[in-house]
Amino acid sequence: MNDKDLEIEYLKKIDLFQRHNKHYYDKNKPIVSDQEFDLLKKDIIDLESKYKFLKSEYSPTKSIGFKPSKNFQKIKHKVPMLSLGNAFNEEDLKNFEKKIINFLSLKDVNTIEYSAEPKIDGISASLIYINGKLTKGLSRGDGNEGEDITQNLKTIKDIPLEITKSNFPKEIDIRGEVFIENNDFKKIKDKFANPRNAASGSLRQKNSLITAKIPLKFIAYTYGYEKKMNIKNQTSFLENLKLWGFKTNPFNKKIIGVKNLMLNHKELEEKRKELAFDIDGIVYKVNDFDLQKRLGFAANAPRWAIAHKFSANSSISEIMNIEIQIGRTGALTPVAKIKPVNIGGVIVSNATLHNEDEIVRKDIRVGDTVTVERAGDVIPHVVSVDLKKRKQNSKKFIFPLKCPSCGSKTIKDYNETTKRQDAVRRCASEGFECEKIAIERIKHFVSKDAFNIDGFGKKIVENFWNLKLVRLPQDIFKLNYNKIEELEGWGKLSVANLRFSIEEKKNISLERFIYSLGIRHIGQENAKLIARHLKTASNFFRLSGEKNIESLSNIDGIGITQIQSIKKFFLNKTNLKVLSELEKNLLIKDIILINNNGLLKNKTFMLTGKLNGISRAEAKSLIEQNSGKIISNVNKKLDYLIAGDKPTLKKINTAKEWNIKIINQTEWLKMLNKSG
Ligand code: IVH
Repeated sequence: MNDKDLEIEYLKKIDLFQRHNKHYYDKNKPIVSDQEFDLLKKDIIDLESKYKFLKSEYSPTKSIGFKPSKNFQKIKHKVPMLSLGNAFNEEDLKNFEKKIINFLSLKDVNTIEYSAEPKIDGISASLIYINGKLTKGLSRGDGNEGEDITQNLKTIKDIPLEITKSNFPKEIDIRGEVFIENNDFKKIKDKFANPRNAASGSLRQKNSLITAKIPLKFIAYTYGYEKKMNIKNQTSFLENLKLWGFKTNPFNKKIIGVKNLMLNHKELEEKRKELAFDIDGIVYKVNDFDLQKRLGFAANAPRWAIAHKFSANSSISEIMNIEIQIGRTGALTPVAKIKPVNIGGVIVSNATLHNEDEIVRKDIRVGDTVTVERAGDVIPHVVSVDLKKRKQNSKKFIFPLKCPSCGSKTIKDYNETTKRQDAVRRCASEGFECEKIAIERIKHFVSKDAFNIDGFGKKIVENFWNLKLVRLPQDIFKLNYNKIEELEGWGKLSVANLRFSIEEKKNISLERFIYSLGIRHIGQENAKLIARHLKTASNFFRLSGEKNIESLSNIDGIGITQIQSIKKFFLNKTNLKVLSELEKNLLIKDIILINNNGLLKNKTFMLTGKLNGISRAEAKSLIEQNSGKIISNVNKKLDYLIAGDKPTLKKINTAKEWNIKIINQTEWLKMLNKSG
């Protein structure tokens, strides 16, 4: 057989494999026996290893394990399933604790008790019990919406189907981790890349009989919402979980003080190899539920918990080349292409060099032997260069002064806060004008926290860009589906799915919309602040005038940097065109505050001076929880100036001039029916 015929033969097998796969996992109706399916798979693998030129992204060697089904019903979590911030060292932990102390205005560090729980590297799930019966089981999904995987979860022996204990809450959403123990994984390891992958693949099977064959385990650790639960802290919640019949982690501990957290971390890291399951760090939660409630959540993660990752794994490799990647905000990031090395079970061939200053400081060159570190899900990075092994003819790396994508000059911004030049060099183009920035901005636009368009991943953005199907975000809503249907790898069904996902996301919240535009310095938290302030999409679209944008500085949390960046965004003609096209194509929901009927409804506040026993951040969050609004300038819109200890005289005087009510802490707390 010649190469061409071999390839045809190979592709036929791949096609058949794909079809069987679909019948088996998606439609839940296999049309061949398991043996036949395995034989076909073996044929493909043998062909690939014999003839290296045979490759396909649909090969069983590329898609590991079971292909998860897309057929599960999506269900919104009553309380979102958030992720956690990461800490890597003592410094990070001290910062975490300092923030808590400041937020709660506490004096003594050693009063904070933590529940320290080993972080199992599995898949989180939410179990909804009503009147003691397991009624629904959901996957995490995107955090807001999970998939209904009740049948699969019910096959896990550690998950009680019915709980009759008298103190079990009337309604509760118990959350925990589904995982597979290392010994059990050994038996099925040729099917999956790692234990986490095995758990995830088996959980998202259409056929729960397949799930039942995998020895999945479940450990419970938190709850989403509850009705009639009378428990005061996390450690007693964990105790109760055991009484109710759940498994909890045997290494959970109650700890006070960063020093002791560090000791426990060290002990567990040493024990890690001997454990029956994979852990990738320790989760610390402020133990007291009242304190947790006061601390609340920042954009994506709680203020009261953090994941302390285990130290990085590292390996030695050689830099083959240094490439410059251009990010969404124009940042030029040097990336070392290294000889592939195995670091802690993962093959690494790219490592970030962070920025120009870092290359200069470490004098990193092509050909150098370097130590590369990888911690958890963080991008691997080059730690150090072994100068003894440096090649004689090696040359200093010259950082490009022109953008490698569009040729614009590159600049380093001056940072107003640090009064220094940034370490990062950026492409000075205005955004969509630079090809690489445009691609990254479109990837951001469709990404999980932005439009979250299912099935529209980074690869598809690149593919559609190369085919000139998208150039600007609005093109996504005017795709030529007939053309896509004819592309390799696409068919009627997949195009219909894509179309459905896109149509579904035309209805979007204002904060997601603002975030999706990828305006520099406007991340999720700032997008949320701006959306809450502006309330409607039309207010946002009409921001373009200087004055309107300046008015955003009234928002507590939005400063000069953000204002300047928004101004720059609205000065750019392409951005304005994008906005006007998106306005035509989308339905952007106005902001409806969850509790817009609170005690401070329609009232605006400003804080000056130090309050007693409550931090500024907590005061702010308390006002917002009661439907009040915080502004950061004294102006006509201000109703109350709350004056604490040593207030700014200028603010007091201006407030007097404008006839604005000046109140003290006790008066303010009275408005909230609280005594100060
Ligand atoms: S608490 C908002 N507790 O870690 C509270 N999570 O990055 C978040 N995890 O998705 C969850 N062990 O899959 C919590 N004892 C534990 C955990 C744990 C593992 C996972 C979980 C979550 C991720 C957070």
